[in-house]
Amino acid sequence: MKLQITGVIATIFLMNNVSASDGEELYGQLCASCHTPNASVKIAPPIFAVVDHVRQAYPQRDDFISQVVEWVDEPKAEVALMPGAIRKFNLMPKLGYSQSDVEKIAAYLFDKNTVLSKEYLEHKKKGHGSN
Ligand code: HEC
Repeated sequence: MKLQITGVIATIFLMNNVSASDGEELYGQLCASCHTPNASVKIAPPIFAVVDHVRQAYPQRDDFISQVVEWVDEPKAEVALMPGAIRKFNLMPKLGYSQSDVEKIAAYLFDKNTVLSKEYLEHKKKGHGSN
């Protein structure tokens, strides 16, 4: 009996651990409501545009991750890489997420190496990519 309970607790612990370390799932819970994967929702820039901008400025994985963590911790217009997006959507709110969650999300976003959509590449070519 005691062994069984320990087993259940261990399973719950493991399950929690798996989901908590899953950057994709955390991204879905914490970021995707605003940063959708497509450009049809007009709350925030789509996630591939965000990743593209941050990656261009911070091509190294570690730098990319610290930049995203720093940004989410405290979005500041003065250091924004997407000033055009602030004009369009307003500054991203301070959300109070835990740093370790955001680190996992940032690593996931970097590693995923999102393929940019054709529409977005067109948009960039027309010179609107600076926002
Ligand atoms: C409540 C809506 C909302 C949520 C939730 C949200 N964001 Fe944002 N985010 C925005 C908006 C709006 C912008 C564009 C304006 C700006 O840059 O502040 C933005 C911009 C950004 C930028 C670009 C910053 C720059 O340099 O200009 C990054 C990076 C970013 N978000 C990451 C994230 C991550 C990672 C999460 C999840 C942990 C997240 N956001 C959750 C609304 C949101």
